[in-house]
Amino acid sequence: MFHATERLPHILPPQAYWSDAQFHDEIGRLFSRSWHFVGVQSQLSTPGDFITTDVCGQPIQVRNFDGVLHVVSNVCAHRHCLLSGLKSGNSPRLRCQYHGWEYDASGASQRIPLAQHFAPLDRNSVRLPIYRVESVGQLIYVNLDANAPNLSTFLGERYETIRNAFNDGWKVMVSRSFEQQVNWKIPIENSLEAYHVPAIHPETFRVDPGEDRSKHHFVDRGSWFETELPFAPHSKADALFQRVEGALVKLFLGSQPTRRYQQHLVFPNNLFSFTDMVSLLHVVRPRGPRACTSVVYQFGRTGSSYLSRKVCQLWGSMAAQITLSILKEDFQLFPDIQRGLDASQQKGMLGRCEERIHQFQHWLQNQLEQTDSTGQIATSGCPHLG
Ligand code: FES
Repeated sequence: MFHATERLPHILPPQAYWSDAQFHDEIGRLFSRSWHFVGVQSQLSTPGDFITTDVCGQPIQVRNFDGVLHVVSNVCAHRHCLLSGLKSGNSPRLRCQYHGWEYDASGASQRIPLAQHFAPLDRNSVRLPIYRVESVGQLIYVNLDANAPNLSTFLGERYETIRNAFNDGWKVMVSRSFEQQVNWKIPIENSLEAYHVPAIHPETFRVDPGEDRSKHHFVDRGSWFETELPFAPHSKADALFQRVEGALVKLFLGSQPTRRYQQHLVFPNNLFSFTDMVSLLHVVRPRGPRACTSVVYQFGRTGSSYLSRKVCQLWGSMAAQITLSILKEDFQLFPDIQRGLDASQQKGMLGRCEERIHQFQHWLQNQLEQTDSTGQIATSGCPHLG
């Protein structure tokens, strides 16, 4: 059932989806204090493994130093070159690719070739900024703000659910990045309603489960949608898929199938979807007023015996292909949504079934208005949804 009893206002005006001022506000007041997903543990399992990425325009390097993850700026203190231009790799020391300056896990300079040329040198002034890193299950998150709440607080009451859904009983089945020339809120809002399903996903999701089969849950840091599987109960193919998945859960995982589908948003840009056999993370990274990157990691079960590992791998790979098909169906529509927002002179509106979008817009507007001088973000309930 839905919470709203009547249609809701579309809070954000069209320019919120393309204006430079809105984008810089969102980066400066919101994303610069958020936790950002950067990768998974298996990418950094060996000392010397590293990945590089940009968080809010800051190049960073996440690195395994003797078994412990640390995050440093990927910009050298000498003459500003990226320490590494690779997306990932393994190297025995954190060394700049240009002149070979080396740094330790605290960001302090260690070895400077021909250091006598730099005398007198205050070693304390020659260091890389370091940042916070935490994990939930196998997911690695980074925060640029030393004063932001920890990752567990950021994820709120969903922390345990997320940790269990990405623990060592799961493995990555597929990971992809999709560059999109649209505002980051378009993919997020698209994920917050099933109203578009009959038009956009007639062969995959097939139907909108509707109000009777949908539950919307609202919490301080987001919302989630829950329904029974199969998504389309009248589809023979979906019913068969669910019967097979239920049998796999009983046979190979030794548990009763829940036959539940949950889809979560943790503000501002972390989407999670869960079934008994699938854990999906979809993070939408803003890159510009009309540019974002969708980062997708889908996990499947690992299984404990040789046979269960093989079957879980097969099932997980098949589920991953279905997810990619669904995402591509959504992604092909986004440029037309952006073009409409660029031209629109309407306010827009939201139906009751789109109430999760209303909560997201209300939260976003509140964060941008109420970020105080200490950088703390105020929380407040939505007048329409409580
Ligand atoms: Fe890094 Fe020179 S710029 S060592």
